[in-house]
Order: sequence, then structure tokens, then C-alpha cells
Amino acid sequence: MKDLNAVEVIEVSKSFGTFDALSSVSFDIRENEFFTMLGPSGCGKTTLLRMMAGFETPDRGSLRLHGRNIVDIPPHKRRVNTVFQSYALFPHMTLEQNVAFGLENLGWDRARIKARVGEILDRVHMGQFATRKPAQLSGGQRQRVALARALAPEPEVLLLDEPLSALDLKLRQAMRDELRSLQRDTGITFVFVTHDQEEALDMSDRIAVLGGGKVQQIGTPTEIYEEPVNRFVADFVGETNFLDVEVLEAADHRATVRTPFGRVIEIPAPVDVGKGDATLSIRPEKLSLGDQVEGIDFTAEVLQKHYLGGYTHYVLEANGTQLRASRRNASREGDTIAVGSTVHVGFVEHSARVLSS
Ligand SMILES: Nc1ncnc2c1ncn2[C@@H]1O[C@H](COP(=O)(O)OP(=O)(O)OP(=O)(O)O)[C@@H](O)[C@H]1O
Ligand SMILES: [Mg+2]
Repeated sequence: MKDLNAVEVIEVSKSFGTFDALSSVSFDIRENEFFTMLGPSGCGKTTLLRMMAGFETPDRGSLRLHGRNIVDIPPHKRRVNTVFQSYALFPHMTLEQNVAFGLENLGWDRARIKARVGEILDRVHMGQFATRKPAQLSGGQRQRVALARALAPEPEVLLLDEPLSALDLKLRQAMRDELRSLQRDTGITFVFVTHDQEEALDMSDRIAVLGGGKVQQIGTPTEIYEEPVNRFVADFVGETNFLDVEVLEAADHRATVRTPFGRVIEIPAPVDVGKGDATLSIRPEKLSLGDQVEGIDFTAEVLQKHYLGGYTHYVLEANGTQLRASRRNASREGDTIAVGSTVHVGFVEHSARVLSS
């Protein structure tokens, strides 16, 4: 079994009428991985999950589960389970009956079902509620039961379609930790779908950013955030400033560019960047302000200031170009930058990135 990918998506295309939802999408999900498909609404995330589960078939291409082509295998014969956003628990059954239901269908014997139901409900901290019905639970508790039910038959792959989106913020953050440790403890491959970039960055081993029916980039959270390969990824994951620049030289993942501040600098670039017009991406938190500037520096006027408690966001203008900068409020007295004033702005070369525009 070793080195086999848990899931392989091979040149999968799918259209609904004249709309191309997926255009020749390919990627591999590794064994024991927490893998996230991240992308805006309508980019085909659920469609891909449904194909893995067997509820949807590709028009072209194929899917493999542990090396085996699954396109013609019906859903109940795949060792794959899904957790839906809506939980989909049976309202007239108790929690233990909900969890036992799938195991009964698989033909497990009574004693084994009883043991497994007890074990998995305890694992999601719902053991003491085993005889309650779903209506007697909070949203977070229902979500835990839905997880227990999907994990009970020990699937090889667990598919999770925006499972946290119905929960409030605090609970969502707590459930992130629980999901992550559940994945680590069970060693089951998790395929997680979200359009929430923070959730994706926090939980995933690797992320596939989907957009326009294609895979835009696959990588670790740090790679996706720090080394976006194109404008779509830089824009969708996190906040960033885009500046028009001219590439004078490009080779070996580096480019020499002319900036709007009348400077020529050398910064990291993806392989496909060539000479000519391009975009420089620099994240707001990578711009330093005031006396502590480092690296490339220039001056800017402060147009707006937004105090957000932990951070202050500034809108700046330098040589006719607007920029957003954010600064952590490390002390109460820290924020001395006034609207209308001129500030020094700086960034280190390797925190910026040039992208083909
Ligand atoms: N059965 C269907 N018939 C027609 N169009 C469909 C069908 N299923 C999906 N689509 C379309 O295909 C595209 C991808 O849908 P999908 O549900 O996979 O998106 P998604 O990435 O999960 O979006 P969301 O974040 O909103 O859940 C959408 O434009 C959707 O309208
Ligand atoms: Mg969806």
C-alpha cells in the first residue's frame, strides 16, 4: 500500500449544459493527508467531492481511490463517507441509533456495532448524550454526531463539505482543532471543502486553490500564502496590494522589476514570468511603517486609518499608487500615525512577489 495516493483526480472535466464547471482538473491527495479544496462559490468544489463519493460522474477523465479506478463503482461500495454542512441526521432516531444505522447496513454484528458506537461517540465527546435525539442538541453537538456517524465505519477517505459553516465563530474555531486532532488520531485521509481561507490555512497539510474550473495552485498553507503563483491565488488567499511593474530581467525564480516608486529591485517570481508588464504583490502586514522601516523604502501619504483593536489598517498613497498596510498594535501608545501625514514605508525584497499580470 505504501506510496499509493489516497485519491487521484485525473484530467476530470464536467459541464452542466453549456457551463464548464471543471476543465481538465488533475491532482493527487496523499494517504493520511488533511487536504483542502479552497475556492470561491461555484468553482466546482462540491462537484469534485460528489465525484469522489460517487454521486456524480465526470464527463471526461477518471478518479482513483488507492490506485483503483472508481468511476464505475457505486457510492456504497466505496470506502468513502461524507459529512455535509446540513448534518443530515435522522430526527426520529437517538444519537446512538443514528451512528449505528450505517453499520447495520454494512452487516456488522450487534456487539461490534455497540462497541464502535460507544467508542466513536466518546471520541467526539458526545457519549453522555447517546440516548438523546438530534433536536435536543446544539448545532455544534449535531455536527459532532454527524462526524461520528461518518467516521464509524472506518472509511479510508472522509469527505467534508463546508462542515463548519453553520456554526458561530467561536465554535467554528474550536471545531477546527477538534477536526484536526480527529484526523491525526484516526489517520484517515480528510478531504475538506471550504471557501474560508483562514480555515484552510489553519487546518490543512496541503491546499488546492480552485478557480474558474481549474486548479490554480496546490501547496502547503505557507506556499499558498507566501508564494502564490498567480494573481487569482494572491487575491483570493489573504489580502494583498497589487502594483503595476515592468519586468526588466527574469530568470531562476527571480525578476528585476521597475516599481512605481521609481526604483529597480530584484524580487522572487514564479517560473512563468517574462519581460514586460507584470504585477507586484505585497501583503499589507509586510509593509513596515514609521521609524522601523527596513529594505526597500519610500514615502507615502496616509489617506485613511482603520483601528481594529489588535491591528490598525492604513490606506496609503505613494506616487499615485494606493497601498494598504496593517500594523499590530503592540502597545496602546503604538499608533502615532495620523491621517494626512507623510510616513516612511518599507518592505524587504523577499516578502514581495512578482506575478504575470
Ligand atoms: N446539477 C447541476 N446542474 C446544473 N448546474 C450545476 C449542477 N451542479 C452544479 N452546478 C453548477 O456547477 C458549478 C459548480 O458547482 P459546485 O456546487 O461544485 O460549486 P461549489 O464550489 O461547491 O460552490 P459553493 O461554495 O457555493 O458550494 C456552479 O456554477 C453550479 O451552479
Ligand atoms: Mg459547494
